[in-house]
Amino acid sequence: MRDSEKIDKAIGRAEAIESGHSADVTDPKALRSALGRFATGVTVVTATQADGTPVGITANSFASVSLDPPLVLWSAARSSMRHAHFTAAPAFSVHILGADQTDLAMHFTKNGSRFDGLDYQLNAEGVPILAGAIARFECATDVMHEGGDHTIIIGRVLRFTATTGAPMLFCDGAFGQFTKGP
Ligand SMILES: Cc1cc2nc3c(=O)[nH]c(=O)nc-3n(C[C@H](O)[C@H](O)[C@H](O)COP(=O)(O)O)c2cc1C
Repeated sequence: MRDSEKIDKAIGRAEAIESGHSADVTDPKALRSALGRFATGVTVVTATQADGTPVGITANSFASVSLDPPLVLWSAARSSMRHAHFTAAPAFSVHILGADQTDLAMHFTKNGSRFDGLDYQLNAEGVPILAGAIARFECATDVMHEGGDHTIIIGRVLRFTATTGAPMLFCDGAFGQFTKGP
């Protein structure tokens, strides 16, 4: 056992994280907490279920992949009741949320989140497009990869919009806002 590992064993998880020593990788709580140190934006991904019902989910796993061809990705948790709908959908749309859209972010964390009362319309692919996002990427599902307890869904961007609105951020399990540096 390396010295650093001995130190890690000797001190508690919280202390290990606090001091920057490596924590136990088999401890999902500690791993989740460490991953949560990575600040991200927040998106709502939408699609249409086979029966025509719109479906949406709050996701911060969104990332750009390629400019040419234009590809983006997000990861759907296998544990989610909505996983089957998104992995079966031929198209989806990613809405980058603005700083003032916390309610929408919270709304789509719940399974069975309905679109009743929300301002949306269907695009050419039949995907629900929500009003108010600071950017939107309408995609055709390109390819999917198994990623442990998630499925990585890569989409080809068919069209997009962008505004200059302030983005919502997510870090350490909390929503916040972006402040530009000096
Ligand atoms: C800020 C934030 C980011 C999230 N990111 C993802 C994500 O990238 N992928 C995912 O499958 N679930 C993500 N979730 C969880 C889902 O929104 C949802 O709550 C969870 O999958 C439970 O789904 P279910 O009710 O369909 O089982 C995120 C939740 C929050 C609050």
